[in-house]
Amino acid sequence: MDKFIINGGKKLQGDVKISGAKNAAVAIIPAAILADGPCVLENVPIINDVSIDLKILSKMGAEVKIINNNTIQIDAKHIKDSVVPYEMARSMRASYYFFGALLSKFNHAKVSMPGGCDLGDRPIDQHLKCFKALGADYVIEHGLVDISAKQLIGTQVYFDKVTVGATINAILASVKADGLTILENAAKEPHVVDLANFLNSMGADIMGAGTDVIKIRGVNKLIGTRYSIIPDQIEAGTYMVAAAATRGNVTVRGIIPKHLEHITSKLRKTGVTVNEFDEFVQVIGKNEPYDRINIQTLPHPGFPTDMQPQFAALLTIAQGTSIITEGIFDNRFKYVDELRRMGADISVDGKVAVIEGVPKLSGAPVKAADLRAGAALVIAGLSTQGKTIIEDIHHIERGYEDIVKKLRLLGADITKKTRYESDSIGKAL
Ligand code: EPU
Repeated sequence: MDKFIINGGKKLQGDVKISGAKNAAVAIIPAAILADGPCVLENVPIINDVSIDLKILSKMGAEVKIINNNTIQIDAKHIKDSVVPYEMARSMRASYYFFGALLSKFNHAKVSMPGGCDLGDRPIDQHLKCFKALGADYVIEHGLVDISAKQLIGTQVYFDKVTVGATINAILASVKADGLTILENAAKEPHVVDLANFLNSMGADIMGAGTDVIKIRGVNKLIGTRYSIIPDQIEAGTYMVAAAATRGNVTVRGIIPKHLEHITSKLRKTGVTVNEFDEFVQVIGKNEPYDRINIQTLPHPGFPTDMQPQFAALLTIAQGTSIITEGIFDNRFKYVDELRRMGADISVDGKVAVIEGVPKLSGAPVKAADLRAGAALVIAGLSTQGKTIIEDIHHIERGYEDIVKKLRLLGADITKKTRYESDSIGKAL
């Protein structure tokens, strides 16, 4: 099994360049099949979730060309089939965007029920509600959702919950529907806006993305385009917290500071210095203990749930009691047991975690339970003296491009051991 080995306690110093946003890329790549011509996507993060998306497209008959490191071209004119290969789709949550994209293209989609990080109950009822409102019908059989429509017709949908996934799927499904679709109580995340901007650059007519009412007037045709994906706010936030936790001094480049407002403001409340510039932030940690803070995760523009575990890692070494309330998912505290192994004092009651700050953690063997839980363990390992060995790093590699290389450039002592190397280490010990 692949592992990260961290010899912690080194202050991170220097510059880190942030990659394109995972959660925008995994929506925009399936959306590219709606174009009549090739789409060139820039700033695509090379991470496992993106590789799965590209493999799905290739398997379905699209031509996928790597133009250079982070630029790809997708030409979907040879896709004839509206069925996504089962095992590939099942391995990642965002494969559900093939529902909306294929339905829009072929009036039919057959995709497995989504997999991905286990963060508790993750239904797709709001996605299905929207497809139905647009005139589609579906059956769920043998783990597959089979959706079809004679014709998709513009409609009005009120989401019972604010959901990123259903908002994006509703935009994808309605972009070529007949007439006007109005989505109310829509998600406002930057990646929702990015997907809408991408589709508009292909000739779509989408207004209001970034607010809670989105209006989509269906168009007959979408054309190929060239588009650059926004920077990943969560990757940026993760490096910002890592800089703070190691009491370092890191410049986080290639970002949109507005997308990081909550992260910046919470870091400042703990006593971290964050200097903001047009396209970068400088994060300067301090040697004295950080101050306690409370965090409640909420849909955008609230504090992002995807940054909650990383902040928890920082707060384990803050002075006093911090309270984290998870407002989005049922089970996003799976990192707690692992941080306890490292000496953290955390108790959890339902959706609330109470963290009693301790002077320091100590390195330990731990396991990443999901993507952001894994990021929290990396931060904890970097912040403390001693060796931390993180297993199940495939979760982390789903969402962070070149994490080992980027951290090593900042002075971290982190290495990846592949399964074979790990076995030899095990035998040698
Ligand atoms: N929900 C429903 N019904 C639905 C859809 C969602 O009840 O039909 C509930 C969910 O169970 C959850 C809440 O609504 O309690 C919000 O879910 P949402 O649909 O917004 O989340 P998602 O689309 O499953 C995306 C990101 C997550 C991120 C959340 C919240 C992608 C591929 N995933 O998930 O990213 O945490 O939005 O911002 O975009 C991550 O990157 O680590 C990650 C988990």
